[in-house]
Amino acid sequence: MTQKNKTPIFPFSYIGEKAKEYDRQKWMERNQKNAAIRCLEYLFDDKLGKSDIELGDMPLILDLGCGTGFSCEIFLENSFKVVGIDILTDMITIASKKRKSYDYKYFELVLGDITALPFRVDCFNHIISVSSYNFITHNAKSIREIRKILNNTAKYLRKILKKNGRIIIEFYPKNDSELLLFTKSFTEHGFNGYMVKRDPKQKGGQTFLLMKKEG
Ligand SMILES: C[S@@+](CC[C@H](N)C(=O)[O-])C[C@H]1O[C@@H](n2cnc3c(N)ncnc32)[C@H](O)[C@@H]1O
Repeated sequence: MTQKNKTPIFPFSYIGEKAKEYDRQKWMERNQKNAAIRCLEYLFDDKLGKSDIELGDMPLILDLGCGTGFSCEIFLENSFKVVGIDILTDMITIASKKRKSYDYKYFELVLGDITALPFRVDCFNHIISVSSYNFITHNAKSIREIRKILNNTAKYLRKILKKNGRIIIEFYPKNDSELLLFTKSFTEHGFNGYMVKRDPKQKGGQTFLLMKKEG
C-alpha cells in the first residue's frame, strides 16, 4: 500500500494494484492537485517576467510524468490544453479513462519516457512536472550518469518549448547537492530561473524549480 509520508519507490509504487490504489487515495489526489495548482501559480510568477499568454488563449502544457492524470485535470480545468506523458502503462491507462470526461481535442496522452521525448521542436507553450522528475535518474549508476541524463533532458525540453516558454518542476530532492544538479541542468542549458522551497529551512522536501527559456 502507498502510505502517506512514505517515499515512493519507482517503479514498484506505481505498478498493478499499486497504480489502482494510488488513484483511489483521496490524500494522494489532494496532494497532486494542490501541487499542480501551485505550479500554475508559479507559471505566472512576476519574477519570471511578463507572460506572453493573452486572456482567452488556450496554451498547450506538456505534463511530464502525468501518472493517473490528477495534475492533467487541474490544467484542463484551468483552460489549458494538455499532453500528458508517462512511462508506465498501468498509470496512463487509468488517466486515459479520465480523458473521456474532457474534450479529446484538448487532452492527449502519450506512453513514453521523459528522457527520450517523442515530440517535434517548438510545440509546447509550457512544461510542468508534478512529483515525477526525480525518477528520471533512478537507473543512473554514477553522478556522471545523473548529470548526463539531466543535461540531455533539459536540452531537449528547451527544444520542444516555444519562445519564452516556461518550465515548472515540483520535485523532492534528497539533499542540496541533488538540488544543485537539477537546477544547473537548466540554468547551464538555456534557461533562467530559480527555486522555491515550501519551507526555506528544509534540506530536502517539496521544491519548485521555476525556469524560463532564454533567447
Ligand atoms: C507521483 S506519480 C504521478 C504524478 C502525477 N502528477 C499525477 O497527477 O498523478 C509519478 C509518475 O512519474 C512517472 N515517471 C517516472 N519516471 C518517468 C519517466 N522517465 N518518463 C515518464 N514518466 C515517468 C511514473 O510512471 C509515475 O506515474
